[in-house]
This record gives sequence, structure tokens and C-alpha cells, in this order.
Amino acid sequence: MHARPPIAITLILAGLLPMHACASVQHVDTAEPEIPGYTLGKRTVRKAPITLGELEEIQKSLLMSDEDIKYLRMSRDVLEPHVEELVGVWYGFVGDNPHLLRYFSNSAGKPDGEYLARVRARFERWVLDTAEAEYDQEWLDYQFEIGRRHHRVNKNTTDNADAIDHIHFRHLPALTIPVTTTLRPFLERGGHSAEEVNKMHAAWVKSVLLQSILWSYPYVNDGDY
Ligand code: HEM
Repeated sequence: MHARPPIAITLILAGLLPMHACASVQHVDTAEPEIPGYTLGKRTVRKAPITLGELEEIQKSLLMSDEDIKYLRMSRDVLEPHVEELVGVWYGFVGDNPHLLRYFSNSAGKPDGEYLARVRARFERWVLDTAEAEYDQEWLDYQFEIGRRHHRVNKNTTDNADAIDHIHFRHLPALTIPVTTTLRPFLERGGHSAEEVNKMHAAWVKSVLLQSILWSYPYVNDGDY
């Protein structure tokens, strides 16, 4: 068993207390990601159970067009300098909601700072991946890996965590709303017009919904997806 750090350090690591409270908080260099458990593009990730053509069909159902992709890519430069702060806001939302924080808590019911911090680094990278909107086979394969990581088939395994082993499906699509609502003020920081901010935001809503649909795969009965 690892010795657990004091609760304040745990919460700082997890991003649930202000960062300046701890000078040694790890900075994630998004230019050259060396992120534990981040396996996009690695051969260890299983092939997606749907094709790129079927991905396009979901995008059509979502009215997701080339214009959305253009605005997602526009958001990348706007968001990149603020990624840590943005993910801090999302972690704050999770920390304020015990019904969500419990999925990051250990069997004794305490938030697991190490687990939160490791997932946080991948979350930051995910913001940039989402904005890059490169919908190739590697990206598609990794979406299903992320889905498995929310479901009992794989939750906790990447970080060897001792938390509840399954995120209930009902919360997965629901989080599209807080994630994209709290994103909006960050999209306003790039000096773009109100119309462009609206379009970046709309594209993000579609992308996060698209991803939560892909992540739902392990929750659906065989043959029904
Ligand atoms: C739209 C909804 C959601 C988004 C965009 C999102 C985003 C992410 C991302 C990007 C990761 C890291 C993936 C990776 O390993 O590369 C992750 C993992 C995780 N998320 Fe979510 N998530 C959502 C819903 C939820 C909900 C509802 C919960 C419940 C608290 C949750 C809890 C977690 C946990 C515990 C992990 C770590 C899983 C593991 O590998 O053990 N997520 N999420």
C-alpha cells in the first residue's frame, strides 16, 4: 500500500484546490506529451468496432460538417494557453459534486489525488486532440479505449487505481453540458468575433456529444450499438 499524502496535498494534486498552494505541481508539456496512460496512436489500442464510414454517418446525424471542423481547429490556438486552467474548472465541477467525485475516490471514500492527477494530464491532452479534430483510424480506436476506461471493462486499470470500478452510463452524456458550458468563456479569450465564438462553441458541443456516443459502446447490449 502507498502512504497517502495529507488531504490538502491530495486536493491540490487533483486540482480541487488552487495550484499556487503547491509549487511542485507538475506542468504538462502539451507540445511533447509524455503522459502516463495516454495511448492514442499506440499499437496496444484495439481496433474500433465501427468503421470510419460509420463514424461519418454519426457525424451526419449530428449535423457535424466541415465548418464545425474548421471552428474546432480555430479553437485550438485559443484554448492551448489556458488548458490547465480550463481542466481546473472542470475538475472543480467534479469536486463540487459528490455524486461525481465518488468515481475518483478510493475504497475508503477519499478522493484519490494520484488518480485525479494522472487522469488530469490525459484530460488536458484530450482538449487539444478534440480541437485538432483529426478523425482518423487512430483517433477512432482511442475513442473506444476511452469508453472502456469509463466502464468496468477497463476503469482504474490504466492508473492502477482503487476507485469505484464503473461510471454509470447516465452521467456520461450528461457531462456534455457542463463541459461545453464552462468552456465558453475560454473560447471568448482569443479575440474572435461573437459569431466565431458561437460557431466554435457549437462545434465543441457536437464533438463532445459525438465522443460520448462513441464512449457508450461498452454500455450497450451486444448487437444493439
Ligand atoms: C462528456 C462527458 C465526459 C468527458 C468529455 C470526459 C473526459 C474524460 C477524458 C478525456 C478522460 C481521460 C481519457 C484517457 O484515458 O485518455 C476521462 C477519464 C475519466 N473520466 Fe471522464 N469524461 C466524461 C464523463 C465522465 C463522468 C460522468 C465521470 C464521472 C465522474 C468521469 C470520470 C472519469 C474517470 C474516473 C476517468 C478515469 C478512468 C480510468 O482510466 O480509470 N468522466 N474522462
